[in-house]
Amino acid sequence: MTLSKNKTFRYIVLFLFGLICINFFILSKLFPIADSRDDDVKQYDSVQESSWTYTMKYFYFKFQQRIEDEKIVEHNIKLTLPNYNNYTRQQFTEIPYRYSSWRSSPNLARRLTSFDHYIYTELLIILDHFFRRHQITYLITDGTLLGSYTHHDFLPWDDDVDLRVSNRDRQRMLNLASQELRNIISVADVTEEYGTYHKFYFPWSPQAGKQNWSYPCVDVFYFDENSTHIWRVNSDEKSMNDCPVSKHNIFPLVWRPFGRIWLPAPREPLIIFEIHRWTTIGEWYYAKNYSHKYERTLSIMNDRARPHELYPYYPWVQRSCSQTYCIEQLITMYNNTNVTIHTVQFEKYRTKLIINPKFEIKNCWL
Ligand SMILES: *[C@@H]1O[C@H](CO)[C@@H](O)[C@H](O)[C@H]1NC(C)=O
Ligand SMILES: *[C@@H]1O[C@H](CO)[C@@H](O)[C@H](O)[C@H]1NC(C)=O
Ligand SMILES: *[C@@H]1O[C@H](CO)[C@@H](O)[C@H](O)[C@H]1NC(C)=O
Ligand SMILES: *[C@@H]1O[C@H](CO)[C@@H](O)[C@H](O)[C@H]1NC(C)=O
Ligand SMILES: *[C@@H]1O[C@H](CO)[C@@H](O)[C@H](O)[C@H]1NC(C)=O
Ligand SMILES: *[C@@H]1O[C@H](CO)[C@@H](O)[C@H](O)[C@H]1NC(C)=O
Repeated sequence: MTLSKNKTFRYIVLFLFGLICINFFILSKLFPIADSRDDDVKQYDSVQESSWTYTMKYFYFKFQQRIEDEKIVEHNIKLTLPNYNNYTRQQFTEIPYRYSSWRSSPNLARRLTSFDHYIYTELLIILDHFFRRHQITYLITDGTLLGSYTHHDFLPWDDDVDLRVSNRDRQRMLNLASQELRNIISVADVTEEYGTYHKFYFPWSPQAGKQNWSYPCVDVFYFDENSTHIWRVNSDEKSMNDCPVSKHNIFPLVWRPFGRIWLPAPREPLIIFEIHRWTTIGEWYYAKNYSHKYERTLSIMNDRARPHELYPYYPWVQRSCSQTYCIEQLITMYNNTNVTIHTVQFEKYRTKLIINPKFEIKNCWL
């Protein structure tokens, strides 16, 4: 209890410090949406800038400091994978990594501005700390997991974050969030065809299109389990058990790099791509034409690219597995040569997709 009060107090101090800081700097131009071909999106961005709050300006100030720090790039760092159990009680470990050095590919344009990426990371740091402190089991899935698997970060052409929390912890999480994260993070309750889920966002960030929440926001869906399987909680009772996944594929969770932070992920990442039937991983990447920033379909076409076409633009993960472990190297192309940013070693996981007819039935999710 005292710990959480302390924490809240620190955020208040941080916030006040921010208010003082912004008196000393003039807000520079908002990063334009990277190479987007959607003109009305660009227009929207400049409208937002004029209505920025003090808190937004404060975050922007911190963000600019980070961009400065990121100018010194270290390479070839060996990362130590946190141990799942004892990291849950540890201080946050930051990965030295620079999103701001990313460029944007004409085939699959970067969807997040560097500032969006920074806000997402700040949001995830607070949530991760909150979940770990209260021992709330959570994991990354869907595009967020694919991003970590192939890029150790967001998929550059993606713009949302998907987490799953155990349904057992759901009410406790919501109660604790309303006590401890109040005034820092807001929670929106969303009910739609996929069921009820929650969106976590900074209340000061811009409204997501015409929706009742802000962007960036982190989506939290829930999973249920029995002793052998887990499955996603849907509103539709009938589909609830259509795509149960064996717990062996998920637990124990492993920490995975995601930009400059570690997030918990299924120990066999491929199982998630298999239930989605994402069978072209390694051959094609696809972008969706939906923007979570504006909560609407973009007029751009659904883009796609082959992995090698993206090498000059985005760092990528190269993996090699032995009988007992898998090594993931994050590589970037620099001055026409491949440079290793960092290396991390995992316990061996599966690297060949298994197509299971069971998952053909309908839209499978976890
Ligand atoms: C965490 O666990 C690992 C492996 O079990 C161990 O080597 C390491 O010393 C532990 N760290 C702490 C801080 O307890
Ligand atoms: C969202 O809108 C509903 C009504 O449309 C309102 O009751 C609710 O408080 C709003 N939620 C937030 C987080 O603003
Ligand atoms: C757990 O649920 C799955 C999916 O419904 C089922 O196939 C499995 O038999 C269940 N396990 C036990 C031990 O009940
Ligand atoms: C966006 O993609 C969906 C499905 O991929 C497609 O049905 C829709 O026509 C596309 N919309 C636009 C505006 O391109
Ligand atoms: C780039 O590579 C060329 C040829 O290998 C080399 O001469 C040049 O110094 C390199 N530039 C930088 C900035 O490393
Ligand atoms: C960089 O790595 C990619 C993927 O392994 C490879 O296809 C490419 O030839 C490499 N480029 C250079 C210049 O070594």
